[in-house]
Amino acid sequence: MKKEHYQFAYKVYESFSELSDDDKKLLKAAQDAAFLSYAPYSSFNVGAAAELENGEIISGGNQENASFPAGLCAEGVVLAVASSRFPKMPIKTLAVTYRSEKHESDHPIAPCGICRQSLQEFQDKTGSTIRLLLGGLTGKIYEVDDSNSLLPLAFKFERRFFPSLCC
Ligand code: THU
Repeated sequence: MKKEHYQFAYKVYESFSELSDDDKKLLKAAQDAAFLSYAPYSSFNVGAAAELENGEIISGGNQENASFPAGLCAEGVVLAVASSRFPKMPIKTLAVTYRSEKHESDHPIAPCGICRQSLQEFQDKTGSTIRLLLGGLTGKIYEVDDSNSLLPLAFKFERRFFPSLCC
């Protein structure tokens, strides 16, 4: 038996004002997108904005449903729209933020586990890493160079797991 270690590094900005102009613009687009969120059940409005390799910015908010599991996270909405409009176009940076009726928005949000899995496959599909910018309306901002670092030992499709699939 041997023990393996996993570690990752991320940057912490003390506030919005420390960001580069490009990052400010993208995080602002994510904050605006939180207004596009439909979250009547949680009152937790998440906004995400992706800057694609071609310079396009795609943004969106979480979309909830009375059948709770049918709800979509903001990150998932953005990945789906980006992939549908510009198939296989890499995302350079994805900014995520939130506003909440019930809580302060002063601590960086982090993508849920399902979104980490979706980010991982998006990276594989485009062959390019996605940088994350995670914030709230105020407070610190986290920068993660490669969203895969948030999902160690990720599950990936391997044909041998599914021998019944044809071709
Ligand atoms: N949510 C997101 O949109 N992104 C995340 O990274 C975490 C959670 C949404 C899902 C649900 O609509 C609401 O936030 C509360 O969990």
